[in-house]
Order: sequence, then C-alpha cells, then structure tokens
Amino acid sequence: MSEHKDSGHDNRSEYVADTVMEHEYDGIQEFDNKLPNWWLWLMWGSMVFALFYWLVFHTLEIRDLPKGDFETEMRLADEAMMERMKNNPVTNESLMAIVEMPAQVAEGRDMFVKFCVACHLDKGEGLVGPNLTDGVWVHGCEPMDLHKIVSDGVAAKGMPAWMNQLGPGGVQTVVAYVMTLRNTEVAGKAPEGEPCKF
Ligand code: HEC
Repeated sequence: MSEHKDSGHDNRSEYVADTVMEHEYDGIQEFDNKLPNWWLWLMWGSMVFALFYWLVFHTLEIRDLPKGDFETEMRLADEAMMERMKNNPVTNESLMAIVEMPAQVAEGRDMFVKFCVACHLDKGEGLVGPNLTDGVWVHGCEPMDLHKIVSDGVAAKGMPAWMNQLGPGGVQTVVAYVMTLRNTEVAGKAPEGEPCKF
C-alpha cells in the first residue's frame, strides 16, 4: 500500500498523488498542491479590503488617515483652549501657548503676509521696520513686549497700531507667529536695539 492512499482502501480513484511541478531552482522543487481554503479566503479578503481602504482613505478621502484624525483632534483642542483663554488676561505664558498651536501659527503667518511684510519683509528680515529674526530688539523680546508694540504701534517711527484692525485675538495670533521668527537669523536689515533673552 502506498503512503499516498486515503485511509486503507485499495481504490485507485481515491489515490491522491503529489504532483511535482516541472521547474526547479537551485535544486528546490515544489508540489502543485491546492491551497487551503482558509488561506485563499485571507488572500482574496485582504485584496478586497485593500481596494475599499484605498478608495475610502486615499482616492475619495471619505475618511481621514490616522495622522489627519490626530491633527483634527489637536486643532479642536487648540480651538477650545483659545476659547477659554479669551476670558483670561494675556500673559507671556498664554502667548507662548499659542506658539505651540500649528493652526494658530499658520493663521498668524497669513496675517503677517497680509499686514506686515511691506515693512518687515517675508521672512521678517526687515526693511522699513527692524529685522525680527536677529537676537536684538528695540522694544524687548518677551511675548508681552511684542504684544504691546503690535497693539499700540510706535507712531513716531512708523510702526502702525494694529489693535483696532486685528482685534485682540488677531494681535495674539500674529505675535505668536513673530515669536517663531526670533533667532532665525535671516540676513537683512542691520541689528537695531539691545540683545534680549527670553
Ligand atoms: C508701515 C510699516 C510697518 C508695518 C506695516 C508694520 N511694521 Fe512693525 N515696525 C515698523 C517700524 C518702523 C518699527 C520700528 C519701531 C521703533 O523703532 O520704535 C517696527 C517695529 C516692530 C516690532 C518691534 C521690533 C523691535 O525690535 O522691538 C515688532 C514686533 C513689529 N514691528 C511687528 C509688526 C507686525 C506683527 C506687523 C503686522 C501686523 C507690523 N509690525 C507691521 C514698521 C512697520
């Protein structure tokens, strides 16, 4: 009796032969066996899943990828915090908290491009107004120093007051953006003022 026979019957039709496939690589041959169904289900299943996943997350973008989900969560948390901060006085700490909020900093950047680049240039390197990227400041480098200058301006020197136009939230946001420019050391207008550490 052959070891390939099904349980004990000497019946030719139940004889299951392992067919060796013709090819051979480095002396390795393989049988032509039927793949188990559970394996096939997994394979076809994952292909169908991949197709839907691709459509939903990438092509149609119906759902956010985990990174997008995370960013949405963070943005909502930041907005909630901004809302709470409205009722509190503005401080160095509250302004530095805004510096940590990417969406707010991006908004500050938009405002800076719209209202400030004419005199401070795109990277803050200075033209009519001082270079905001060097380590020296005319009016101090603490967030509250910037907040005061941006709110009230320096009429005699040609720095406008922005509180009326931007409102309290706008001033805080643009100040947060300017805080990100500090010490980026872009070559531009010669340093004016005193070194300042914050
Ligand atoms: C019309 C030109 C002009 C515009 C527009 C302008 N600034 Fe200025 N800014 C100046 C000048 C001039 C000074 C220098 C004031 C001084 O020397 O006292 C200055 C000073 C500053 C300072 C203080 C710098 C230091 O060394 O202490 C900050 C911060 C600043 N500007 C931010 C802004 C922001 C933010 C905006 C946009 C919302 C803006 N500026 C728009 C002209 C301008």
